[in-house]
Formats: sequence, structure tokens, C-alpha cells
Amino acid sequence: MTLAGKRILLIISGGIAAYKSLDLIRRLRERGAEVRPLMTRAAQEFVTPLAVGALAADHVYTDLFSREDEQDVGHIRLARDCDLICVAPATADLMARMAHGMAGDLASTVLLATNAPVLLAPAMNPAMWAHAATRRNVATLRSDGIGFIGPMAGEMAETGEAGEGRMAEPLQIVAHIEALLDDAPKPLKGKTAIVTSGPTHEPIDPVRYIANRSSGKQGHAIAASLARLGAEVTLVSGPVTLADPVGVTVVRVESAANMLDAVTAALPADIAVFVAAVADWRVATSAANKIKKKEGEGPAPLELTENPDILKTIGHHQSRPHLVVGFAAETADVVANAQAKLARKGADFIVANDVSPATGIMGGDRNRVRIVSKDGVEDWPDLSKGEVADRLAARIAKAF
Ligand code: C5P
Repeated sequence: MTLAGKRILLIISGGIAAYKSLDLIRRLRERGAEVRPLMTRAAQEFVTPLAVGALAADHVYTDLFSREDEQDVGHIRLARDCDLICVAPATADLMARMAHGMAGDLASTVLLATNAPVLLAPAMNPAMWAHAATRRNVATLRSDGIGFIGPMAGEMAETGEAGEGRMAEPLQIVAHIEALLDDAPKPLKGKTAIVTSGPTHEPIDPVRYIANRSSGKQGHAIAASLARLGAEVTLVSGPVTLADPVGVTVVRVESAANMLDAVTAALPADIAVFVAAVADWRVATSAANKIKKKEGEGPAPLELTENPDILKTIGHHQSRPHLVVGFAAETADVVANAQAKLARKGADFIVANDVSPATGIMGGDRNRVRIVSKDGVEDWPDLSKGEVADRLAARIAKAF
């Protein structure tokens, strides 16, 4: 119940993405939030107040001059009695009115009267989002301290056009709200961290590459956990299909060589956690053109050469972070291998796990790890990757 007791005023303005706001209400309430819905006139053309009110289990506010509502709550109280206002979807029109301080309807009046944090999830046609007028309004709103999530790139619901303009998904909005309303202690405030995550892709030719089964779930979760404890996190990620964690700077790379460059560029840092499953070898010279299959000839030989060891390089770097953590994915002799890695790679501790196919860890949602340091071995129980990340972040915080 990450949002237990939090009061969120959800303003739904008029766009087709309003259908996603119904799910957003459910996701917020599942996490313990109280959701008070407010709909513009146009929003009611897309989803009904009946559906919104039923999901929110609250009255739906729609009119600035409703005698009933004004006696009951009033627009000023509506603006003040909440921990956060989320506008999803936020249309170009509503943003334009907000940027100019207009207050011609209930939504804009409440947005002008509030002193709660405001988060907008814009949704509109890509041409409208790219228009100079919208760019100006977004810049004004940002400088007024209004927060944004999205819009995302992808296909538009109504026209099938692709581009930037889709509303963020409900779970992304929820994660953002959780981060904004998180009042937990921040023991890593002021500290910087670098986290590597995911696999690397080592090119063979322009269309082929060598890769591995890493999903990036554990690395991304660790980046998110460190950020929740207040660290300023740079996540250097190989190719993954995961959403960017909230409150983290993400640098996307392909190969081990790119990853080392990105990590080095992010130095100095207080903390570095190397979770990526970096390919040990790359093709010595990747071909500029696609390697052709030739009739009657065997496959072209692939000559491999060793990749830089990023953990080892940073573990012995002149600007070595204060705390360096490595991972050791093994299928046998897990602890002995991790112990050998500690000194060789210059790590303070190694998170060792058994990635034999039977464990289902590689690509899965759970992990069972042992923390190997010079002080000994800690055996952690079977946990979700998110729980492993939280525990690891707490352990890192203790080291400062
Ligand atoms: O030697 P091994 O690959 O088992 O070491 C795993 C640890 O080293 C992980 O923390 C991984 O992120 C890191 N590593 C690296 N660069 C490499 C190989 C591994 O940073 N080229």
C-alpha cells in the first residue's frame, strides 16, 4: 500500500486516452490512495461520469457553478484538500489555459487555486504536441514547477498515426506519483550512483549480434531502489524491453565497449553497482556488410577477442567509487568463484547467484543471492528482484 492515505485529485480532460484513466483510478486505489475525480465537459464525451465515479467510489466533480458541489466542497477546498493533482489525460487545450492562468471552468480554476504538486500526463496528436504553441506552453508550465510524465512515442489510438503524443501507461503514472509522494527517509541523498544493467549486444555484422539471456530486471530494480533512497542514479543499460525506472537518468548502450565508455563518462560517483551481463567476448572485427552465405562453403569463422572488464576497470580506476559492487552469475561453485572475483576485480562485495537454467533466475522475477565480502558470506532467502534491490540499496546506504 505505497499510497495509503494519500489523497489524489484526478482531473480527466477530453481526449481518447481518457479510457486509460479508468484503469489509472483502479491502480491508484489498489495502492491505498483516495481518488477524487474531476472531469471537464469534453472528458464526458469520452468516458461517462458514471464509470469514473463507480471506480473511484466518490462523487465526480464537473461544474464550476454547481450549487450542490459548491455547498459541499467548493472549488477552493477541492484544490487544497489533496496531496497531489494528476491531470490524465492533459489535453493541449487545458495546458494552454493553465499556462495563461485562465480559470473558465472547474478544472482550470482548481489548477490555478491549488498549492499541491501537479503532475500532467499529456496526450494528443503528435503534430499538436510538436506545435510551437504547445512547446511554449510546456516550457512555461515546467518553469512554473508543474511536473510531466510523457507523452510517449507510439501509435495513436484514433488515427493509427505514430509519433510522440500517447499518454503514459497507468502503471508508469502510478510509479511517478509514488515517487513524488514518497516521504520515506533518504539516506543516500547527495550521493551519486552508477548502475549497469541488461545484456550487451556484440555486433557480428550490421544485422547479427552475440547476446545473452539477461532481462535487465535486477539491474533496473537496483537503480530504482537507490533512487528511492535519494541517490542520483545513472543507469547504463544494454538493450532491454523494460520501462525506464522513475527518477533515474538512463543511458542506453549496445556493446561492452559502449558500456565502458558510458560508465567512465559518468564518473566520479560514490557508488557503482555492476549488474549487467556483459559479453565476455566480441567478434574481433565486425563486418561492415552482411556476411553472405556462400553455396558449397562452410560457415564463415568468427574470430573472438576479449571485451574490457568494466567492473575490473572501475574497481581499479583512479577515480574508483567509494563503494563498488559486482555480481557473479555462476552455474557451479558459486561462492568460491565470487570470493576469487572480489580481489581480482577490486569490488567491496559481490552478489552471487546461481543462474543454472533450473533456478529460472535469468529473465525471471525472483532471485536468490549470497552477498560475498571480505567479512564472509550472507545467505539471503528467495526474494523478488525488487526485494533484493531494496535490501541491497539499504545495505549500500549502511556503508556510508
Ligand atoms: O567475470 P564475471 O563475468 O563473472 O563477472 C561478473 C561481474 O563483472 C558482474 O558484476 C558484471 O557486471 C561485471 N563484468 C563487467 N564487464 C565484463 C564482464 C563482467 O563489468 N566484461
